[in-house]
Amino acid sequence: MTDFLEERPFGSRYTNVYLSIFALFCFKLFVKISLNILTHFYVVKGNRKEAARIAAEFYDFGQGHSSWADRSPLHEAASQGRLLALKTLLSQGFNANLVTIDHVTPLHEACLGDHVACARALIEAGANVNATTIDGVTPLFNACSAGSAACTEVLLEHGANPQPDPCQPSPMHEASSKGRTACVEALISWGADVDYDIPHLGTPLYIACASRELQCTRKLLDGGANVQKGRFLDTPLHAAAQKDCPEIVKVLLEFGANINARNLELQRAVETAPPSSLAEHVLLHYEVTPRGLSELCRLCIREYLGRSRLHLIPQLRLPPLLHRFLQHR
Ligand SMILES: *[C@@H]1O[C@H](CO)[C@@H](O)[C@H](O)[C@H]1NC(C)=O
Repeated sequence: MTDFLEERPFGSRYTNVYLSIFALFCFKLFVKISLNILTHFYVVKGNRKEAARIAAEFYDFGQGHSSWADRSPLHEAASQGRLLALKTLLSQGFNANLVTIDHVTPLHEACLGDHVACARALIEAGANVNATTIDGVTPLFNACSAGSAACTEVLLEHGANPQPDPCQPSPMHEASSKGRTACVEALISWGADVDYDIPHLGTPLYIACASRELQCTRKLLDGGANVQKGRFLDTPLHAAAQKDCPEIVKVLLEFGANINARNLELQRAVETAPPSSLAEHVLLHYEVTPRGLSELCRLCIREYLGRSRLHLIPQLRLPPLLHRFLQHR
């Protein structure tokens, strides 16, 4: 028997695999045909609503994660922000930490939909604020992605981890790339690392500049982000110049960006700006203009204070005018 097996050509040992795949295919075909018959049956019977529901449930995978059959009513209520339904379900004994196949919890759904009351109710019912999907996404990431400052705050207040583990999607980067300034501010104030560097993405500041998000850029710099740190040798100034964002270029220069830093191609920021663009003009103008003494002093003082003590500036015994100046306000 073993001799017989060994004499068979290499490929035929896999017949079983092919058979399984074929059987699976047939089964799927069978399911599809039955569903079609079922739909047809409902249409013929005049129950178009039910027919539409079946069709929607099984053919609408395309709209992201929002129509998977294994979502519970709790997920449904959370994603639609129906607080009363949600509370009823919880009081009926639904587990606040129910997960789908992808480990999406109702709290993920509530945060993605910016439904802060639902998020709060779920957390009070014991939902895990650090729950991660199989893609490493946390409720905090969803809140930042949706720009929900209220959900971000609630999650952080209840002990959500502001800093992802390495290799997990970073809420700070997500918020920075989408210009969710209030979320960035909340993350910074709850202790997220403002210079958290993800090798292929760079720092949040770099992402904000590359996404042309002026308010976020300001917020990150206010929070003490290192103005030189970008992605590899590309500085945030390179990103802003490349994207031709004169406003962001100005802000970066104000915070002391080094105009002579070179990237991997040994280019300075001004050389990466589109020819005769506004950003190029701003950079060229900056090169030939001496810095003001007050600006230089401000840079020195901020550097001397260090990032961890920038928030103490209002407590310095200085006139309010100088407080505001030191804080770039
Ligand atoms: C969430 O994770 C952070 C960091 O790992 C931890 O400090 C915190 O206690 C966790 N929160 C909860 C509620 O488990």
